[in-house]
Amino acid sequence: MRGMGQWMKHDMEFLAGRRLRRGRAHGWSRAMVRETALASADLIWPIFIIEGENERTRIKTMPGVERLSVDLAVAAAREARDAGIPALALFPNTPDHLRSEGAEEAYNPDNLMCRALSAIKDAVPDIGLIADVALDEYSSDGQDGLVRDGVILNDETVEVMVRSALVQARAGADIIAPSDMMDGRVGAIRAMLDAEGFEDRQIMSYAAKYASCFYGPFREAVGSGQRLKGDKRTYQMDYANSDEALREIAQDLEEGADSIMVKPGLPYLDIVRRAKDAFNVPIYAYQVSGEFAMIEFAAAAGALDRDAAILESLQAFKRAGCSGVLTYFALEVARRL
Ligand code: PBG
Repeated sequence: MRGMGQWMKHDMEFLAGRRLRRGRAHGWSRAMVRETALASADLIWPIFIIEGENERTRIKTMPGVERLSVDLAVAAAREARDAGIPALALFPNTPDHLRSEGAEEAYNPDNLMCRALSAIKDAVPDIGLIADVALDEYSSDGQDGLVRDGVILNDETVEVMVRSALVQARAGADIIAPSDMMDGRVGAIRAMLDAEGFEDRQIMSYAAKYASCFYGPFREAVGSGQRLKGDKRTYQMDYANSDEALREIAQDLEEGADSIMVKPGLPYLDIVRRAKDAFNVPIYAYQVSGEFAMIEFAAAAGALDRDAAILESLQAFKRAGCSGVLTYFALEVARRL
């Protein structure tokens, strides 16, 4: 019968060059072998804009996040810049009376989005401004496209988006970010920007955006949720698919996207990694409102250590291959880093 000692001896020889725990034994050596780093430059901060002055309103399903009037958004932009955040992503909560079937407010040069863009650009010129382009923030249906007889129209929607992107570029948007998933919108927006003298403006395409339940709190924040009839599955992607995401990304890059986004974030890190392996372009992920809410409500219930959960989730994006993350935690984390 073999004695225990014999096994141990064998194991120790076998393990001689395989003791991975050596690198984990001390804080300093964990730091030395760490493969990815999280920095404030990785964090893009989405903010919600409302009409008014010195006005802030709570969002029930997003504890700690507030919609800000333009003047407060300017102050927030200053804080973000001082914390090392490179860019803000703006989302307007359009007043109800300005929402319509044709989403005309989307291309009003004086709409809330444009006023926020130009006020922030004026006061804080050294922070990047990402303008979301989609019709759900302006339409009476809460859909990202124009609707006729229950059908989301593709090409007609793209025309409205192009007009919307134009007023945003004129107002000072540095990055145009179409988040709608219509076909052909990146190429159309690129052509318009180049023709209008905005060849310096980037396009960050929400290329792989899934029809997801995790956008619920966002829809409360921008006021589109209670309007939405049906779902977005005829344009946003089926979450069973990932090959298709690579086709979406390839197409958007061909049409002229400078960077691409995967959305939602944590449940879709496999898509980030596949995209990273397949395309040599900057990839961003959006840690969306529902992911934010999961962490906040779990922490409030005592189930998670909030700060640890935030950092672990953000580092996971870097590990998966993201150049950066859109996250509602951006300001607080950038200040901590
Ligand atoms: C709309 C848009 C959505 C989000 C960003 N842009 C919602 C949707 O597609 O229904 C979601 C962001 C979040 O949940 O934090 N075009």
